[in-house]
Amino acid sequence: MENREVVIEVKDLVRKFGDRTVLNGVNLKVHRGEIFVIMGGSGCGKSTLLRHIIGNLKPTSGRVELLGTDITDFYGTELDGVRKKIGMSFQSSALFDSMTVAENVSLPLREHTKLEQSVIDIMVKMKLELVGLRGFEDLLPSEISGGMKKRVGLARAIAMDPEIIFYDEPTAGLDPIVAAVVDKLIIDLARKLAITSVVVTHDMKSVMTIADSVAMLYEGKVLETGTVEEIKNSKNEMVQQFINGDPDGPIRFFQQKDDYLEHLTQ
Ligand SMILES: Nc1ncnc2c1ncn2[C@@H]1O[C@H](COP(=O)(O)OP(=O)(O)OP(=O)(O)O)[C@@H](O)[C@H]1O
Ligand SMILES: [Mg+2]
Repeated sequence: MENREVVIEVKDLVRKFGDRTVLNGVNLKVHRGEIFVIMGGSGCGKSTLLRHIIGNLKPTSGRVELLGTDITDFYGTELDGVRKKIGMSFQSSALFDSMTVAENVSLPLREHTKLEQSVIDIMVKMKLELVGLRGFEDLLPSEISGGMKKRVGLARAIAMDPEIIFYDEPTAGLDPIVAAVVDKLIIDLARKLAITSVVVTHDMKSVMTIADSVAMLYEGKVLETGTVEEIKNSKNEMVQQFINGDPDGPIRFFQQKDDYLEHLTQ
């Protein structure tokens, strides 16, 4: 991967909310075509980092480059220009309940293109086929399962044929089999459509199955990056504790409110 083009570069990213530092100097590089996983515990800043990479949030300091463009200071139409080339699958599926599956998937196409409805219909069919939901066009979100909703979210994320797709916790809340189906789909989409994929997750099974590269985020910093093999063999005790899901180790869990609050302002 190292010799491929860099499509995302995050440089010394710091983000404070009030006097609380959530991201504390994040550096990472994502190469074209790879599945790059950002893993880390609840609340360590994964979703916040993702929102900075897609330009939804602005850093306190540091830079974000997306597809060769520094988007740190981009807003409005400038940002939309780059955004058209990326797809986003949200932590909650974020479907509109009153719209059918097909209408949900067609949203980006209706918003960003002037294509005729008949063309959009064909494109939506193709995307639904890719996520294994052929024939589901007319159902409402309330009529399908959580796993299917995730897949509709994926179909919508690839509607515009993005160069990069971002997934926030794609397998959270799914049973192990459905989670494995979603993992397989992420790999399929990445390989078939040659999409660069950035996946935020704390699902270790997912990490081991899908990742070409892994970055472990802890307390607003990247603790370690590498291939799955390299991460598995990491000498870092925190990385090992996280991979093994060990309650005892250097990563602290707060049982007293005062300790927690003190830690937040450190
Ligand atoms: N807009 C905001 N204002 C204040 N604090 C925020 C804001 N957004 C996020 N935070 C804080 O930043 C921290 C990181 O949140 P974030 O949602 O990025 O974590 P996460 O790693 O995605 O967690 P999870 O695994 O539970 O999804 C949290 O403590 C959260 O309360
Ligand atoms: Mg999150």
